[in-house]
Amino acid sequence: MTDPTPDQTTDQTTDQATDQATGRSEPPAGAVAPPTRPEPLTNQGLFDRARAVIPGGVNSPVRAFDAVGGTPYFVARAAGAHVWDVEGRGYVDLVQSYGAVIAGHAHPHVVDAIRRAAGEGTSYGAPTYREVLLAEAICARVPSVEKVRLVSSGTEATMTAIRLARGATGRSRIVKFAGNYHGHSDALLAASGSAVAHLDHSEGATVPGSAGVPPGAVADTVVLPYNQVPVLDDTIACVIVEPVAANMGLVAPAPGFLQGLRDECTRVGALLIFDEVITGFRLDIGGAQQVFGVIPDLTCLGKVIGGGLNVGAFGGRADVMDHLAPLGPVYQAGTLSGNPLATAAGLAALSLLDQGAYEQLEGTAAHLAVGLQDAFDSAGVAAHVSRVGPLVGLYLAPTGTPGPVPAPVDYDGARAADEAGYGRFFHAMLDAGVALAPGAYEVLFPGLAHTPDIVAHVVSVAYEAARTLAGEDRA
Ligand SMILES: Cc1ncc(COP(=O)(O)O)c(C=O)c1O
Repeated sequence: MTDPTPDQTTDQTTDQATDQATGRSEPPAGAVAPPTRPEPLTNQGLFDRARAVIPGGVNSPVRAFDAVGGTPYFVARAAGAHVWDVEGRGYVDLVQSYGAVIAGHAHPHVVDAIRRAAGEGTSYGAPTYREVLLAEAICARVPSVEKVRLVSSGTEATMTAIRLARGATGRSRIVKFAGNYHGHSDALLAASGSAVAHLDHSEGATVPGSAGVPPGAVADTVVLPYNQVPVLDDTIACVIVEPVAANMGLVAPAPGFLQGLRDECTRVGALLIFDEVITGFRLDIGGAQQVFGVIPDLTCLGKVIGGGLNVGAFGGRADVMDHLAPLGPVYQAGTLSGNPLATAAGLAALSLLDQGAYEQLEGTAAHLAVGLQDAFDSAGVAAHVSRVGPLVGLYLAPTGTPGPVPAPVDYDGARAADEAGYGRFFHAMLDAGVALAPGAYEVLFPGLAHTPDIVAHVVSVAYEAARTLAGEDRA
């Protein structure tokens, strides 16, 4: 698919762009004169320029394609299920901003809400009506949330939920599970999934997941295997868990795991925190806690609730949330928290999510997962395609693994994945115009814009890519 708007692919600096407000098209005095004929942008050219001024050329590591090799595509624009790169090439996009976009890119309702909000000012540093509306919408839909605080990212949400749990219980130690990713705060990076999984090859021990994190920062982080209910004691402030693990491929909670965590936390007076940054408003209106019927004390949200803009949130029991400043002694703040554009986008996105939308998402994901599994099976590639509701995960087993390949249940199992094989499959798909996430531990995010025809196309491309992979493996 080629881009119908080729002018997107030329180099437009701010100086060159017409000033919308003043109508001025001349560059300001003293500005560097633009080239008379702008060079077309290329992915490689932009990556080279980016690497000169941005570490690794990207603002989030997975985007650099280190895990799969090659040059990242630089997105010029997106609509619905598609993105177009700066060279005008289109891709069916199964990344969807890692789940921040659920209704498709540039959904008119969301774009219109952002436009209208922008016209009224972009940030005030004072409370607004739409913050109240978004908080009410979250409290009305997520079973555990009686009060909620809006922040600007999932990382901020989990980091602050941990601080709150420590402040409310007066305890320091926290439990997290290997392969779960909760953003990049110091205490939570240990044994993290997502792109950190490509870096961290420590076995079991609680070690910092990144250089620059002092051992002291993880001294109170206890890392345990996913899907095993631990025996806790009264030194534990909280247990944080992805109720469906979506950063080590896709790993479903074993029957009884989430309820076991609930019971154990209650027994020792620890708080249970569900990190629903991915599952919130994606698995169902009330998130994983509604689907699995287990109610945490605190819930972290992000992604979908910002409609593609920067929003995170944490909320839960009112008595716990009331430990936050200005009511209580646990401090948290943010210049852009509850930003008017982000709350407008989030409210617009949530307004599109009724029960019919979740049924559609689940049907789309089922069609995709069955098709991908068939593609691997028919090519003789050892793989397991997992699905939980609308989330789909690929696990490519090491070559020669006898079938049928079981789904991984924990981080050790997930990390047996054939990362190089995933890289080859990824590129075969990308060459044919289907963009998966450039990392073996990310999941696929089919959304409301992925029509049955688009899914059928993706599956037919996957048949070919799986055959290519099988041919390479045999060579
Ligand atoms: C489960 C989970 N928690 C937290 C985060 C961090 O969110 P953010 O990238 O918005 O900081 C992510 C990001 O992917 C995530 O998947």
